[in-house]
Amino acid sequence: MAGPDVSELQTFEHDVLVIGAGGAGLRAAIACAAQGKNTGLVCKSLLGKAHTVMAEGGMAAAMGNVDARDNWKVHFRDTMRGGKFLNNWRMAELHAKEAPERVRELEEWGAVFDRTKTGLISQRNFGGHRYPRLAHVGDRTGLELIRTLQDHGVHQGIHVHMECTILDLLKDGDRVVGAVGYWRETGRFVLFKAKAVVLATGGAGKAWRVTSNSWEYSGDGLAMAYIAGAELMDLEFTQFHPTGMVWPPSVRGTLVTEGVRGDGGILKNKEGKRFMFGYIPERFAPETADSEEEANRWLKGDKSARRPPELLTRDVVARAINAEVKAGRGSEHGGVYLDIASRLPAELIKKKLPSMYHQFKELAEVDITTDPMEVGPTLHYFMGGIRVDADSQMTTVPGLFAAGECAAGLHGANRLGGNSLSDLIVFGKRAGDGACEYADKQGAGQVDNEQVLSIIRRATEILNRESGANPFMVQEKLQEMMSHNVGIIRVKHELETAVEKLQELKKEAATAKAHATSQYNAGWHTALDLRNLLISSEAVTRAALMREESRGAHTRDDFPGERDEWLKYNIFIKRGQDGEMVVEKRERAPGPQGLVEIAYSKIEDLESGKVGAEVK
Ligand code: FUM
Repeated sequence: MAGPDVSELQTFEHDVLVIGAGGAGLRAAIACAAQGKNTGLVCKSLLGKAHTVMAEGGMAAAMGNVDARDNWKVHFRDTMRGGKFLNNWRMAELHAKEAPERVRELEEWGAVFDRTKTGLISQRNFGGHRYPRLAHVGDRTGLELIRTLQDHGVHQGIHVHMECTILDLLKDGDRVVGAVGYWRETGRFVLFKAKAVVLATGGAGKAWRVTSNSWEYSGDGLAMAYIAGAELMDLEFTQFHPTGMVWPPSVRGTLVTEGVRGDGGILKNKEGKRFMFGYIPERFAPETADSEEEANRWLKGDKSARRPPELLTRDVVARAINAEVKAGRGSEHGGVYLDIASRLPAELIKKKLPSMYHQFKELAEVDITTDPMEVGPTLHYFMGGIRVDADSQMTTVPGLFAAGECAAGLHGANRLGGNSLSDLIVFGKRAGDGACEYADKQGAGQVDNEQVLSIIRRATEILNRESGANPFMVQEKLQEMMSHNVGIIRVKHELETAVEKLQELKKEAATAKAHATSQYNAGWHTALDLRNLLISSEAVTRAALMREESRGAHTRDDFPGERDEWLKYNIFIKRGQDGEMVVEKRERAPGPQGLVEIAYSKIEDLESGKVGAEVK
């Protein structure tokens, strides 16, 4: 079939094309524009609407403003322990070292952080962080980060392409040289030529029924990179944030910031019991309060007291809530209770947590200054993603870079809350710098018209076939299936069922039919997203099946506990010669001695300088 004439396609040429305009994409684009590069920034929806805003409670950076004992080494140690030591050593090091500078830079660009009494950027407590470390703007930190980057970026001459979905990447031999997309409003296709491409497309939360992710998060970057030949890794680690709303059904999954617990909120079951004391893992026991009395002293600022168990890492808290509900001790609507009302005065709650106050008042008719919230786990974040080089963020495909949630490595088996926003700004900048360097060295490549046409044909077939599956139904089936078989607690036979069901769903999706024309056609958009959701889901499921242990956010009922032999491996996913998904268990490089010592040190040895003093 003859396709459209490529020479007549709307075409943009950029030095660097950034796909995805959340925190990582914006920061990458700013880095490119700052180097005078012609930079294109593609947003699937409107500029500023990104999952970044769902990181509400703050960005983690060891600035030491609230507790002077904090420094990059403690942050690095916390990140490695939170990630159950599977993190990429170099990424965790770079992140902990560079986050404070990136936060200060945001302040220079106009971010209005909350302040300490002495006028410094205020920092709050969060799960797994030893010290108050999250620079924040009430409970709207992600929003402020986006607003700041957006304001700064538009004055740098970035070309913003809004409401544009990228369909696939273009290659010249091994390297990536651009992408083809369509405008969501008109359905018309658009060609982007670029010397380098940065993916910053987030995760694939929309493959689950209960998620904090909105419709854009269909794993586009993961799937496009995979199709282009890049390697994915660590996909078995999907984070269920412990506290999403559970009621009413229309808002199930909407995030309730960890800042509520950081500011003193406690979790209770229907019997009124503060149950987290019963779920303290051995590794964290030396640093966690084991009585209400001690936890309350900590809240009052007693530095000799240990942290409350509600501030254990997300994987631990999510599993505990899941266990309480399963044991019949859940709340009325299948969650547990999160109580801040009995912990802080009403005025302070409204000041520190204004969005949570309004969210519950308007959506659930609950006043959180007087009543507890009902909360439960919600799929929030992908720790795994595209494999990248730690320093440059280049993927295994030349000219293709990735940053933020769609890139793997920093968070290992479980991400600490607040480490996402700092990840975006640290590695967004690095990806932008890496892409510029590549663009300077390699120059422009050649776009192959036949590739452009085949991408367009794949998209238009969905409209042109006579009949076929309803894309919305296929997505719903996928969400049900993943929620049931690849949830918080996993087991071999369910994962195997999921692999089988995914093959059936792939066949169904391949016949999906969207009715009417390509102009603002939600059925067509959903059908196009399905391929990416299915690739991402299959990668998660196959990796989860292979990892026969429980580590961080990956819990196998049939393989309880961490197994030392598995710490030696990451699981990689790539596309085989015949288009099949290849899953490989590969040995990790050992970490540098100095960093290993810090990660495994006792906190008192690190703080006294007995360990890590020689590491700069
Ligand atoms: O709970 C939160 O505010 C989310 C933060 C994050 O995911 O980093």
